[in-house]
Parts: sequence; structure tokens; C-alpha cells
Amino acid sequence: MNLSMKDKILQRFLSAKGEPISGQQLADELGISRTAIWKHLQTLQEEGYEFVTIKKKGYRLVEVPDRVDAAKISSFLNTKRFGHAIHYFEEIDSTQSVAQQLARQGAEDGTVIIAEEQTGGKGRMQRTWHSAKGKGIWMTIIVRPNIPPHQAPQLTLVAAVSVVLAMKSLYKNFIPVIKWPNDILINGKKCAGILTEMLAEMDRVEGLLIGIGINTNHELDDFPEDIQSIATSIAIEEKQKVDRAQLVAEILKNLEYYTDEYVAHGFKSIKKLWEEHSGTIGKRIKATTIREIIEGQAVGITDEGVLEILLDDGQVKKVYSADIEI
Ligand code: BTN
Repeated sequence: MNLSMKDKILQRFLSAKGEPISGQQLADELGISRTAIWKHLQTLQEEGYEFVTIKKKGYRLVEVPDRVDAAKISSFLNTKRFGHAIHYFEEIDSTQSVAQQLARQGAEDGTVIIAEEQTGGKGRMQRTWHSAKGKGIWMTIIVRPNIPPHQAPQLTLVAAVSVVLAMKSLYKNFIPVIKWPNDILINGKKCAGILTEMLAEMDRVEGLLIGIGINTNHELDDFPEDIQSIATSIAIEEKQKVDRAQLVAEILKNLEYYTDEYVAHGFKSIKKLWEEHSGTIGKRIKATTIREIIEGQAVGITDEGVLEILLDDGQVKKVYSADIEI
């Protein structure tokens, strides 16, 4: 893991779970001076971490701020590659833009860009994405699967499956479902969205930028008024605040596992999981595309992730991009 010295120190304290660690022991372990350790602890204090000194025992971490920084995520992380490089920002225009630059500069598979707040969050179809400070998970993962460009939409479905399964394993008070192509809804309201952008050559994907936005610890008032009736958060549905870093780590674990599974064995098993967790398939829906409005029953997705709608006259129509009402 590419952690900075400050993050290594923090991670050491996080895994000590409140037990004291001596300055000398830390200095020896990390190969730096005690003064250097002390300086890093000062910086951490400025970021909101609080340490107390215990006589003859060293420092004890007593207060952890609600942040999704690299050390915090790493303390939950259980992956081979994903999340081993994390770029954390207090504030950024959009994690997608940073991801694009980093991907062009050769950032490795599984690199994460995450921010407490986005001032220019991007949604699908040129919409803006409301990204309130410290409330959600606003992150982009750079994924470099060895697949041809036309298969890229399948990886978006892999991401949706990974997010839903992460929520299901951590929270028990609600059931999240996927709305085609990759919105996550809880009780009919949108809790998360995924935006995938691609860097590609003619025949090869160079990198996919999988942008995941999750309304996590919002109360209703934290949303702009115009979306309060259609948006929700995990905290609202779970009826308690949750640890954002833990959810990030769980998503990265799933995303790495299912991406590898998909690259090795194809789309079949992912398609099955996507359909199992879908809130769209089997329902009567209205799809608004740029050209027309299509009404009918959603019957499934193709291997390309295209939605198939059975019209009242028995025809099956394929929908590549649309807004769906259920
Ligand atoms: C949607 O329209 O449903 C997709 C929303 C995607 C939002 C995420 S937040 C992190 C990443 N950075 C962005 O600017 N957008 C995506």
C-alpha cells in the first residue's frame, strides 16, 4: 500500500484500537526520529485526530474525525490491489477529472480518488451530482481490465452489483435494488449512482473511470429541496449514521473480486447477480430516450447490458440509454 508516513502512523494507531503506542517503538518500526513522529502527530491533530499522552506508555488515539482518508479506508481494507493507492481530497471539483489525469499518467489498476466534497460533481446525461461535504462517498476508481471497448458497459454493471452487495453485507434495515442501468434505490428513492467514463484505443480499453456517488450520512435537510422527494441516504434508511470508510473498503473488495471474476469467466455470473438484485426486471416501465418514450415490461438485459422491453404488441425493444420510470 502506498501510504504516506503520516498515514502509516495513523494506520498504526487505528489498528491499535485505543491502546497506547510508545513514540520510541513507532520511531524504530518506521525508521524515523521521535521528533518526526511528534511532528506527524501534530499534523494529525490539526486534521481533527486527538491523541493523549499516557505516562511511560506513549500516545493513545482518543478521537477519530469522520473522514474518508487513506489511513481510515486502509484500516478496513482487505484487497490485493484495489485501494492500495488512494488520493484523498477535502474538496475537489470532480473526482472524475482527477482520475482522468491520473489514468493518463499511468495510475495503477484499482487506484482510488475520493473527496469529502465535490463542487462540480458530474452525473449521467450531463447532469450535476449534489455532493455535500462529509455526508457521502464521492469516489472514482481507475480500473484497467483487459477487454475491448464495446464490453465497457458490462463493467458498470459489475460496479452496481458490487455496491449493492456491499450494502447488503453491512446493513440490515433495508433492501437496496438496482434500477437500470446502475442507480441504487432504497424504498423507491435514489441512494447511489454510477458514472463510467472510458479512456480507450480502437481495440483496447486503456482505463475505465468508475465514479460512484453514495448518499451516506445525509439527513433529508442535507439534500437540495428539489430532490428531497426522490433522494434518500443509507443513514435515513438504516436509521443510524454509518462508517463511510468501512463501506468504501467493502465496495473495493467486491469490485476487485467481481472484476477479476468477470475478466476470467465472462459476463454470465455477473448478469445473473445483476438480475437477482434488480428492481427493474419484471416491472412495467416507461423509458424516455432522446428520441422516444417506450412503455412496456422490462424483461431482461442482454450480454451487452442493454435493457430489453416487451411492448404491448409483442415486439421486444432494446434500450441503450434512457431515463426509466417504474
Ligand atoms: C448518476 O447520474 O446517477 C451518476 C452519479 C455519479 C456521481 C459520482 S460521485 C463520484 C464521481 N465524481 C463525479 O463527479 N461523479 C461521480
